[in-house]
Amino acid sequence: MNERDVELFNDSIERCSCKPEFLRRFYALFLASSDTVGRKFEHTDLQKQARMLKTSLYIMMLAGGDTEKAVHLERLARRHSKADLGIKPELYDLWLDRLVQAVREFDPLCNKETERAWRSVLQPGIDFMKSRY
Ligand code: HEM
Repeated sequence: MNERDVELFNDSIERCSCKPEFLRRFYALFLASSDTVGRKFEHTDLQKQARMLKTSLYIMMLAGGDTEKAVHLERLARRHSKADLGIKPELYDLWLDRLVQAVREFDPLCNKETERAWRSVLQPGIDFMKSRY
């Protein structure tokens, strides 16, 4: 991840999230991607979940930053670990693929470079979450 990726990611997330349908679409894609994922969200208020996700995308972007930011990521990782929600590491790859698919649909300026930027910005946070399973 470099400065240019962060800039591309930031601009793209702004273009996507000014459309309320964006995160709804992501959850529709993600929930349909596997039975396990669908079951995990059986009792979830997806409206509320979508709001939390937007904030957490920024937390992910700051992964590896200073300690205060790392505390949020640590908490998120613990919540998803086997002691709590039990989210298996391989499900994160599905998560990222479906998120990038939603970006492709909602960001009119999305191109290969934008997609790569989303992946490279979110990957360190994902690797951290997986390592804490
Ligand atoms: C790095 C990627 C991810 C991020 C940033 C993320 C973000 C979040 C956030 C912010 C919450 C709310 C935290 C809380 O309850 O305190 C949450 C809850 C949850 N996440 Fe994730 N998540 C990620 C990956 C996944 C994956 C791969 C799954 C697989 C199914 C998943 C399933 C869930 C479930 C089931 C909940 C609880 C929903 C509820 O309260 O009913 N998450 N996630």
